[in-house]
Amino acid sequence: MELKVAGRAKSLRGTIQVPGDKSVTHRALLLGAMAGGSTRLRGGMRAGVIDAMYDCLEALGVEIERSDEEETLVHGTQWRSPKRTLDCRNSGTTMRFLMGALAGSSVSATLTGSHGLSQRPMDRVAEPLRRMGAKIAGVNGSDQPPLQVTGSRLRGIEYEMPVASAQVKTAILLAGLHAEGRTLIREPVASRDHSERLLRHLGVSVTKSNGTLSLEPIQAPLPPFELSIPGDISAAAFPLAAALLVPGSEITVLNVGLNPTRTGLLEAMQRMGAQMETRTNSASDGEPTGDLTATFSSLRGIEVQGEQVVSMIDEIPILAVIATQAHGETQIRGAGELRLKESDRLFGITAELRKMGAQIEEHPDGLTIEGPTPLTGTQVSSHGDHRLAMALTVAGMLASGETILSTAEVVHESYPGFMRTLRLIGAELL
Ligand code: S3P
Repeated sequence: MELKVAGRAKSLRGTIQVPGDKSVTHRALLLGAMAGGSTRLRGGMRAGVIDAMYDCLEALGVEIERSDEEETLVHGTQWRSPKRTLDCRNSGTTMRFLMGALAGSSVSATLTGSHGLSQRPMDRVAEPLRRMGAKIAGVNGSDQPPLQVTGSRLRGIEYEMPVASAQVKTAILLAGLHAEGRTLIREPVASRDHSERLLRHLGVSVTKSNGTLSLEPIQAPLPPFELSIPGDISAAAFPLAAALLVPGSEITVLNVGLNPTRTGLLEAMQRMGAQMETRTNSASDGEPTGDLTATFSSLRGIEVQGEQVVSMIDEIPILAVIATQAHGETQIRGAGELRLKESDRLFGITAELRKMGAQIEEHPDGLTIEGPTPLTGTQVSSHGDHRLAMALTVAGMLASGETILSTAEVVHESYPGFMRTLRLIGAELL
């Protein structure tokens, strides 16, 4: 599908909500599926990447009811070996989390996915799980999917993660739940901690001391639970960025998850001089939440690296768009992980923003962007990546002339209402 974005958007205004947090929804579904009883989730994400998790869990014998717009019931049960291959589609989170959850289970399953997913690194999960005693076999002795995971007896390990990755950390924690003995994990930089928070919420012993995470195995099935899932800050990033960049705009996004391991973009925007207001609500089931208002602002370039990058790992493409309109240079470093996402995001955002006239330079682990530069509408590609598609839509709204975005339907992976919401606040999208 081609999306036509009219340039020079008129002021954007309104109060909106965004889909439930993708990371929390994945974790809640999976832990609900492992629990002994029925779990009630409110406000979770409904989108392509989540459908992948649903389908896999259903194939494992878990019944899931989407009772209305808002609510999902997950009837946790003893898993059974599926008759079919588990298709994780394009969802790295689904594949990596299931590797961890299946490794210590009593079932065997084969995990597969899209061509793109099969190219993404799974050895980073397989390697620590094998140290725990997991049986995982990929294509021709590699760790490339299809991956056959045969549930087995695991032992806790002490693991020093080479890269900061919440997906890897979560896979190890899920395996550790059924391992013999304690599991200890150290990360080079703290990644998002939704798994730790949710496991604690369920009464699992997960502690952190001097940078080492420690998990005790469970002796009984996880309890079923109720959870309200806040809006996804990674989705909110796009309308908020649009409001900062389109003259005369002011947008409020209600009930957004404000977990400090996820708020790197908000901090970066503030350092750039953004007028942003945060009204924190009471914490919702262990996750801080709040309402965010962004107002059109004059911005300046900044440097972003290390820990900051990890706390905004999915927001770098939209930061690059923001930086094209900021005064001076923006430097992003330590972001090599972006080459291993749904697309090579450093390459993709550079190639597409350059076509629109941006001054952007790609480095092995980052970007340099010089601003402000006027953008010009042209034909651009999402590279089949939802975050690039949404970032380029915002870029198109700033450009002179029309931007035509190809494979725009990929936004359905994480934000099916993206175009509807942008139209609602005043964008012209065809
Ligand atoms: C996620 C962690 C991040 C992020 C992904 C979701 C999660 O991946 O990019 O969209 O839910 O744990 P990495 O852990 O691989 O950095």
